[in-house]
Amino acid sequence: MTSDAQPRVIVAADIEAVARIAAERLLQRVIETQDRAAICLTGGASPEGLYRLLATSPYRERLPWDRVHWFMGDDRFVPIDDRLSNMGMARRLFLDRVAIPAGHVHPIPTDAASPDAAAQSYQAELQRFYGRDRLDPARPLFDLVLMGLGDDGHTASLFPGGTALGETERWVVGVAQAGLAPFVPRVTLTLPALASTREMLFLVTGADKRGILARVLSGEDLPAARARSDGELIWLVDRATGLEDGHGFRSASA
Ligand code: 6PG
Repeated sequence: MTSDAQPRVIVAADIEAVARIAAERLLQRVIETQDRAAICLTGGASPEGLYRLLATSPYRERLPWDRVHWFMGDDRFVPIDDRLSNMGMARRLFLDRVAIPAGHVHPIPTDAASPDAAAQSYQAELQRFYGRDRLDPARPLFDLVLMGLGDDGHTASLFPGGTALGETERWVVGVAQAGLAPFVPRVTLTLPALASTREMLFLVTGADKRGILARVLSGEDLPAARARSDGELIWLVDRATGLEDGHGFRSASA
């Protein structure tokens, strides 16, 4: 496993192609593990197409659901049935639509006393799942981590200038003040925990993301640009973001 992999850009034709390529990559990652697989989901609108695809043919039949564990990279500190809940969204779009063994969906416990308490408890859950309380780059926690890109360059709930961004020890932290709407407290995995993966896959679509994506890929110091992966690091974007085939280190069109 290499650390600090160079990012690779894949430019897909459109938002549907992004969802399809992401679904294929997720499936391959699960198949490769041959054992239990751990996927860390993301919130926001960008993964919605992927989530819908997973609950429909052929992915609903092809994914070995009984081997996969589902985590969430960040969530808003609201009840799971609140429309702002990231895990609530993932449940509605696919997790509640397929047969998943009990205990394989791992929501951030947003019914805890506070975001900090939820963070502590989720960190303990991740460490139990991993079997250790120190991350080993040779043995990543996740097989795939999905990420999004916010308009201000945030990813997960790691906002520009926020203290969560510089965290090097804890795996999960509470975020009292979000940098962008919705202004609800949140809980987020930290950069070291998110980096512990065989593949980190950013999903970025739409013309609205043009400006911020260009800033991140040009190396500006923004949270999303600080994201690292112990394995592969891929930016999967559609053409509406303004990137052309050939941008970055490598590209593929669909
Ligand atoms: C959240 C997300 C967040 C998201 C970006 C991009 O809880 O808000 O996890 O980090 O990924 O804001 O969101 P869109 O996909 O909606 O642009």
